[in-house]
Amino acid sequence: MRAVCPGSFDPVTLGHVDVVRRAAAMFDEVVVAVAVNPNKQGMFTVDERRDLIAGAVGDLPNVSTAAFTGLLVDWCREQDVGVIAKGLRSDTDYAYELPMAQMNRHLTGVDTVFLTADPAHTFVSSSLVKEVARGGGDVSAFLTPAVLAALSARLAEG
Ligand code: PNS
Repeated sequence: MRAVCPGSFDPVTLGHVDVVRRAAAMFDEVVVAVAVNPNKQGMFTVDERRDLIAGAVGDLPNVSTAAFTGLLVDWCREQDVGVIAKGLRSDTDYAYELPMAQMNRHLTGVDTVFLTADPAHTFVSSSLVKEVARGGGDVSAFLTPAVLAALSARLAEG
């Protein structure tokens, strides 16, 4: 079965990478799909995010990247994706994810499976990593070297 790991991935963290790797071991194919949100400008462009994801999971032959606009369920139908795979870090994630999973299932019947985050990553998010990095904190434990370099370069651009 073809699965999708959807998200903003601005930028991809080691928490995301862990979930994608585990999903790749479970499903025939995994597409890491970056949601395009025209109302929200991120630190990285969608293409940059895809490149950073590709670099982080490039050793996995059954993983690819994509970008989508509009509803995730419509994209899943178009792309013949049968299941949504997401990481769950906390009860806050659960409260956020549960209605989305139920709505998505209501809309097209697509199911969502949750992979519990590795305890090492439960406090890691792209937004917190960016905030800490902006303040000069060390975020090297949460990113691949390439993503860390891209983040440092972006911050240096000012
Ligand atoms: O990394 P994020 O920001 O937590 O990812 C959330 C994302 C992009 C997966 C979610 O907002 C989404 O699926 N957006 C696409 C639009 C959509 O389908 N909305 C209805 C959800 S029920």
